[in-house]
Amino acid sequence: MRLGIMASGRGSNARAILEAVREGRLQAEVPALVCNRAGAGVLDVARDFGVPAHLIVRGDFPTRTAQQRRMLEVLQDDRVDTIALAGFSAIFRPFFLEAFPHRILNIHPSLLPAFGGTMAPRPQADALAAGVKLSGCTVHLVTEDVDSGPIVAQASVCVRPDDTVDTLAARILEQEHRIYPEALQWFADGRVRVVDGIARVDPPVTAA
Ligand code: GAR
Repeated sequence: MRLGIMASGRGSNARAILEAVREGRLQAEVPALVCNRAGAGVLDVARDFGVPAHLIVRGDFPTRTAQQRRMLEVLQDDRVDTIALAGFSAIFRPFFLEAFPHRILNIHPSLLPAFGGTMAPRPQADALAAGVKLSGCTVHLVTEDVDSGPIVAQASVCVRPDDTVDTLAARILEQEHRIYPEALQWFADGRVRVVDGIARVDPPVTAA
């Protein structure tokens, strides 16, 4: 599997993925990391792991479409076949999604379909505000409907009465770092199929 990572922030999920690759828990090559925010911590992560980073910011392009065309070009030049969004802030144009059918994954810090459609720390804050007793994270395939694509893996955490957004986010993040490399390995192993909009892992996984 030739995995491209796309990220906009501090890069802890990118680091977890690259550590899994280094340790052989994730059988993938990572030929490119695309970042759309200058100064993002994830650029340092790419450097630490010797992964070529491409900074492709909106301001350098006349339109979002032109920016995404450049992202696509970079990833295709590196023969990327699977993409892991790791805290990536942009929403894709259809042409980008169509270039990687059922091969763009995202991690989201809530138990989807609850609390989708926003970026961290909003999902965690919304979960706290709603008073839910369980939260967690979801790895899903990216489709045109934001945070609504087929669910591949989830992990839950208990919400504690004294949780703040930060403590809850930190507990969820530990689970993100655990399940994202694991779910990506299922793709590397060819274990995931999408049937009638549902992601099926074969053989099935009962607890992520
Ligand atoms: C993670 O919590 C990830 O789940 C979230 O952004 C954070 C990125 O952290 N993603 C979203 O909110 C997507 N809607 P990181 O840069 O340390 O990986």
